[in-house]
Amino acid sequence: MEREPIVALDFPTWEISKSFLEKFETPLFVKVGMELYLQNGPVIIEELKKMEHRIFLDLKLHDIPNTVGRAMKGLAQLEIDMINVHAAGGMEMMERAMEGLVQGTPAGKERARLISVTQLTSTSEHQMKREQLITVPLMDSVLHYAKITKEAGLDGVVCSPHEASAIKDVCGDDFLRVTPGIRLKGDSAQDQNRIASPSEARTFGSSAIVVGRSITGAAEPAESYRKVKMEWEGQV
Ligand code: C5P
Repeated sequence: MEREPIVALDFPTWEISKSFLEKFETPLFVKVGMELYLQNGPVIIEELKKMEHRIFLDLKLHDIPNTVGRAMKGLAQLEIDMINVHAAGGMEMMERAMEGLVQGTPAGKERARLISVTQLTSTSEHQMKREQLITVPLMDSVLHYAKITKEAGLDGVVCSPHEASAIKDVCGDDFLRVTPGIRLKGDSAQDQNRIASPSEARTFGSSAIVVGRSITGAAEPAESYRKVKMEWEGQV
């Protein structure tokens, strides 16, 4: 289990991200998504690394195998800790992503964990059936994507906390279940469909939690982070 909650830096600029991070006394494990990365570029990663934060680069790559492999090789040079692709890109794409990641990781450095997105947590079963023409239940689709992700040699998946235990049963405990959709009790669900508290995520079998607005939108982010961490570690 990853002890530190992964904090989603869902901000548009580096200035806002930096003033948010200044509220914390110790380095965090942060998630940089498309919003921040695409508007500010790789320099963001260099800055975060200088501040000793660990980084999950949540770019959800999805393209032809060659393109994703080459992109991954370049991104590996940033020495991030975790990165992801869409499982819907296929096994060959995932295999080439892993090859690129291995090739691009500087000698003597640890390779980033590579995980996949199965079905986005924002996708409903109705939408999946209507738009993707997948006729099996959503959970079967998620489990199938998790299985092919494992077969392709990746380290785990991003999934809902409510899917974590089924994925653990099918793919084993070593296969990571990184779960967003986390809310402290009393916080609003906002646009997330199936939320869980940090302690529920732990009992449901998450191996890492990603927390955004419960921390970034709190009046006292450092205090909310401490609460999330304590619950996640089972100290409350
Ligand atoms: O604010 P909140 O805690 O809902 O943020 C969750 C974070 O996790 C966001 O950055 C969101 O993009 C991301 N995420 C998600 N569901 C996924 C993959 C990523 O909510 N399946």
